[in-house]
Amino acid sequence: MSSLHDRHRAVSPDWLALYYKHPLEITHGEGRHVWDADGRRYLDFFGGILTTMTAHALPEVTKAVGEQAGRIIHSSTLYLNRPMVELAERVATLSGIPDARVFFTTSGTEANDTALLLATAYRRSNQILAMRNSYHGRSFSAVSITGNNAWSPTSLSPLQTLYVHGGVRTRGPYADLGDAEFIEACVADLEDLLGQTRTPAALIAEPIQGVGGFTSPPDGLYAAFRRVLERHGVLWISDEVQTGWGRTGEHFWGWQAHGQNGPPDILTFAKGIGNGMSIGGVVARADVMNCLDANSISTFGGSPVTMAAGLANLSYLLEHDLQGNARRVGGLLIERLRAIGAGSECVREVRGRGLMIGIELVKPGTDEAHPEAASAVLEAAREGGLLIGKGGGHNTSVLRIAPPLSLTITEAEEGAKVLAEALRSVG
Ligand SMILES: Cc1ncc(COP(=O)(O)O)c(C=O)c1O
Repeated sequence: MSSLHDRHRAVSPDWLALYYKHPLEITHGEGRHVWDADGRRYLDFFGGILTTMTAHALPEVTKAVGEQAGRIIHSSTLYLNRPMVELAERVATLSGIPDARVFFTTSGTEANDTALLLATAYRRSNQILAMRNSYHGRSFSAVSITGNNAWSPTSLSPLQTLYVHGGVRTRGPYADLGDAEFIEACVADLEDLLGQTRTPAALIAEPIQGVGGFTSPPDGLYAAFRRVLERHGVLWISDEVQTGWGRTGEHFWGWQAHGQNGPPDILTFAKGIGNGMSIGGVVARADVMNCLDANSISTFGGSPVTMAAGLANLSYLLEHDLQGNARRVGGLLIERLRAIGAGSECVREVRGRGLMIGIELVKPGTDEAHPEAASAVLEAAREGGLLIGKGGGHNTSVLRIAPPLSLTITEAEEGAKVLAEALRSVG
């Protein structure tokens, strides 16, 4: 009898990567822990790619899903759907976008695809500005605005994409500048680019780059960009698929670190809101959302079961102030990891905010990415009972730490101890 791994390999695409030399089958979870098929327990610091936002098997979400599934699973957007309207109302209010309209999809990719459709139709332009080192999803349109060739398998595209500097603070041509000069240089680059293009539809950016290794510009960069974009009539799309819902601690949305000149025109979300149920969506000002002059639906977008899960999950998040918890526990965790990193020759930088923390690894004594060390630490952490993620530019050399937002201080300490040990094992 072949193993599940062999069966997976035989039937799945080669490009569907699995973590670990001996991939893990996760069979169940509770709180911040998951169990594998052999009954071994792990502390989960990755939440299925920042998606288990509140906790595994959160009773409130499970109950809402069960009750809704018992009533009706699907009706489609052709009929009124109470949970969808209720979640849209809450997301519209939380978004900070005036006169906001919300359209639900089933993934972040589809949310960004919708944002691109809206922006290009509204502006009658197929030019998009995106950030270097970005990731926005897996569809034909999303890979064409992804500034990271490890995740962009084709350059054929319906869009013309121009890449802007600024998403990566400590590498690249402006790395040695102070924060204010860094922003100035990136704005000058954007101005230069706009002077040489026709009329781009929008700039799309992740406030903190997720797949790119939890890198971000100094606070205020996108506000400075916003001022320039507005002069040219170019829209700002904030991709909040990883940064939304309070994960960054200080802010509910990542864009709020850049909110001096108002909210984005379009905001996209996914991952955490459904706690694993497939919800994505796009929020836009009514004039932008309503600019399409043909019908459009998503058969599964806004389905009652996922919406019931989203409502229960969002209520739990807000009622338990998990954003505050992310700020407090994340703050302690990052300090602890910085202290650990200071003792390791492999650690170039510990960065992030809230419960979105990256540890960039390099070959000792150099500035060179060290993907082998990142893989080794991932394995060693697993051995120690801790699941983490990795990411980062063209060489995957950044450890990504993004636990459920209900993480306790004791669990943060426990995870940090395992990480310290795992990092020691690579030097
Ligand atoms: C910032 C960002 N945007 C979009 C996506 C795509 O979301 P999905 O995988 O749900 O299609 C991701 C996924 O990792 C992401 O990190």
